[in-house]
Amino acid sequence: MTTRVAILISGGGSNMAALVRDMHGDHPARPVLVVSDRPEARGLSKAAAMGVAVADVDHRRFGAGRGAGFEHALQAKLEEARPDILCLAGFMRILTPEFVSHWQGRMLNIHPSLLPKYKGLNTHARAIEAGEREAGCSVHEVTAELDGGPVLGRARVAVAPDETPRTLAAKVLRLEHRLYPAVLRRFAAGDRASVWLS
Ligand code: GRF
Repeated sequence: MTTRVAILISGGGSNMAALVRDMHGDHPARPVLVVSDRPEARGLSKAAAMGVAVADVDHRRFGAGRGAGFEHALQAKLEEARPDILCLAGFMRILTPEFVSHWQGRMLNIHPSLLPKYKGLNTHARAIEAGEREAGCSVHEVTAELDGGPVLGRARVAVAPDETPRTLAAKVLRLEHRLYPAVLRRFAAGDRASVWLS
């Protein structure tokens, strides 16, 4: 039976597109839904143009902060699509421990640093500031600890002497587009061993 994947986005959706593009042919999974917490997310039209069902759950309807109302509505959309795996791909909301524990072991995220270094935001500026010689991205299982779940894959790139957060972000994003599909392909086939790309 084909493994069903839902992808959660907030923005441009370039990682989502890389995942969707990879899910064909002998891939063990297929995309069944792309959901955004922002109706204006450019990734939604991109997903629709790729033939994937889309939905939005506007987080502003539920007030500030993370919350039961938003997640309840999100969960309802997900239940209709019946995914086996959730991929967070540039999804900018922190999920509650209740939501995470419901999906734990079935939910992945991509983070633009070599975890466990630089959890949270502004990863590229922090890596440059710290004088790192290499940077990269990681795909990990989502647990209640922010960016702290088991790492399933990493990809690294050299930090140039004149690197800026913007140039590093562009380099790392290209790597993300290779790493996330590679990890999902293995994870959907039941392989949780860690992958290193370089
Ligand atoms: C990526 O760098 C991802 O790692 C970060 O947000 C960015 C999302 O880009 N969390 P996109 O929406 O996949 O284009």
